[in-house]
Amino acid sequence: MKVKLKNVFVIYFLVSVIGLMYALLQLGQPCDCTLHLKSASDLLHAKEKKLSQLHSELKRLQGREKALEPAEQELSVIYAITPTYARLVQKAELVRLSQTLLHVKNLHWIVVEDSPVKTQLVSELLAQSRLRFTHLHAETPKEHKRKESDPNWLKPRGVEQRNLALQWLRENRQLGDKGTVYFADDDNTYSLRLFDEIRSTKRVSVWPVGLVGGLRFERPLVENGRVVGFYTAWKPSRPFPMDMAGFAVSLPLLLANREARFDLQAERGYLESSLLQSLVSIEELEPKADNCTKVRAGGVRPDCASSIPMQPSRLKCPPDR
Ligand SMILES: *[C@@H]1O[C@H](CO)[C@@H](O)[C@H](O)[C@H]1NC(C)=O
Repeated sequence: MKVKLKNVFVIYFLVSVIGLMYALLQLGQPCDCTLHLKSASDLLHAKEKKLSQLHSELKRLQGREKALEPAEQELSVIYAITPTYARLVQKAELVRLSQTLLHVKNLHWIVVEDSPVKTQLVSELLAQSRLRFTHLHAETPKEHKRKESDPNWLKPRGVEQRNLALQWLRENRQLGDKGTVYFADDDNTYSLRLFDEIRSTKRVSVWPVGLVGGLRFERPLVENGRVVGFYTAWKPSRPFPMDMAGFAVSLPLLLANREARFDLQAERGYLESSLLQSLVSIEELEPKADNCTKVRAGGVRPDCASSIPMQPSRLKCPPDR
């Protein structure tokens, strides 16, 4: 009997111990699980933190990249001055030019009509151009107007109009304003690379022009980075034997020399010289377009009808100005 009771007691003890151990195991397991979960979520948090760190680092670097490209408002303005007059191809030429200018950052287009009023054609074209523009008009005095029968080089065109644009700049811009002024006629073609290069003009920059002056191109001659002469066929003795499309002037220089303007009385071919003479000397000219070895602007058709001679000596007709 005694032994039996002892046995029961032992069995009871064993069952209790096993039960207790089982209960402890059951208790311990969820405890382990939360630990796992906790470490997993800690890891997730760490990864998320790292990701957001990388994200902000990326943003910072992207911002720096943007900052490396000069912001548009920091680029100095290019003022393209375009005199224009009513003719069959006027709209086509202005559309073509405006769509070139659309590609140029920080550009201000000053269009001056040779007309007693602003015409509807040009007004609408400008309004739809998506360009920053100023629309002016000035009628060329009768005695200076080119007649239908006059050869195209007899009287320079666009003189009053370009001068009005210069006057507008002097009245609407202040000393200290940065900018480059370029006389971009509506019958030429312009390479976008030209605009990148002329933005840095300090006084007057120059470069070759294609299909003008009865030549395949005219160009300043450059030695050791300085202009020493000009390749031209028409009156090489002119002070600045260059086409209107072949130079740009810094705005500060024009603002500082308030009297500098194109001379309405200038002999043919001397119009460019009439402005430039009061602004720079040949030695001060800044050659662009790889030391004036590349053509970045020019006429769109030969201006000397039959053929463009290779040599200046074979030139048959005077240039278009
Ligand atoms: C122009 O020529 C000068 C002198 O020969 C040279 O130092 C300079 O690098 C040249 N510039 C370009 C853009 O080729």
